[in-house]
Amino acid sequence: MGPVGEVRIRPMTEDDVPTAERVTAIGFHELDTRMFRRAWPDPELRPPDRGANWIARTRHLLGTDPGGCWVAEDGSEMLGVVVSFEREKMWLLASYAVVPGSQGLGLGKALLAPALEYGSGALRGMLNASSDPKAVRRYHAAGFRLHPQMFLRGTPDRARIPVIEKVREGSLGDVDLMDSVDRRTRGAAHGPDHEILVQQYRLVVSDTSTGQGYAYLDGGVALLAATDRRTATRLLWEAIAASDDVLVGHITPENSWAVDVGLAAGLELDQGGFLALRHMRPPAPYLAHGALM
Ligand SMILES: CC(C)(COP(=O)(O)OP(=O)(O)OC[C@H]1O[C@@H](n2cnc3c(N)ncnc32)[C@H](O)[C@@H]1OP(=O)(O)O)[C@@H](O)C(=O)NCCC(=O)NCCS
Repeated sequence: MGPVGEVRIRPMTEDDVPTAERVTAIGFHELDTRMFRRAWPDPELRPPDRGANWIARTRHLLGTDPGGCWVAEDGSEMLGVVVSFEREKMWLLASYAVVPGSQGLGLGKALLAPALEYGSGALRGMLNASSDPKAVRRYHAAGFRLHPQMFLRGTPDRARIPVIEKVREGSLGDVDLMDSVDRRTRGAAHGPDHEILVQQYRLVVSDTSTGQGYAYLDGGVALLAATDRRTATRLLWEAIAASDDVLVGHITPENSWAVDVGLAAGLELDQGGFLALRHMRPPAPYLAHGALM
């Protein structure tokens, strides 16, 4: 990969990951504040626990897909990061950012190119696009269709939460069930990503004679997939019941069952960002993970 102006684009290494975390935290700071009305205090930008999760997740993806992870640097300074990976012929983009002072100059296009090339043999593509118009242009140019997403947030009205049955704690012993649900909903299993997801979130599973599903919970939903709406609804109520400050994101219009639950629970509905898809329809019942989709 040749230089872009004075900037060099090269494969990410294990040693780059902590600096890459800072680059993505800085690249996203303004957007996160606008979208979730959650101002992270400078100079922290991203809270340490979320930063540690980013680092662990990126090390995992660098381990499974080293060819999908690249950095841009000018001398010794890292200016941009892209982390992409492939699961069962689906190309996914976990992280993509350029530091604010270097945005809008063509660096992002050059940085995304080797990641897109890595996924060029994939049949489908999926990523979560921020509402940054520069990001949206890049994904559209790469052939992605943009599907608007909603999110629910607030403190649930406990009096409205129904009795929740047929939901149990999950473990890595449920990977086959989860992979099967993912293949039906999004067309590709998360496979090895469950190893990192179980470390970072509480896993709940619903497995009955009429439907299967699972959710990773994190003060709301980090990821939810089910074979049917009834199972998905049950899992979402469990997530809402488990927190006093709920955030449920990544709701496409195809997942209006989640809007029904959230409004019934007294949460507020808002919108922001896009699910960007290539050669596939929006999965349902499905609430995507922010980075592992
Ligand atoms: C998204 C991001 C990585 C792209 O990197 P970049 O270096 O800014 O991208 P480029 O300069 O290569 O491309 C930006 C595109 O937006 C256009 N653009 C530049 N400034 C713009 C502006 N203020 N408003 C709208 N479009 C703009 C450019 O013309 C270019 O489009 P074109 O290639 O069709 O001409 C970077 O902007 C960023 O880090 N944003 C904040 C974090 C983020 O949202 N990341 C995406 C995660 S989903």
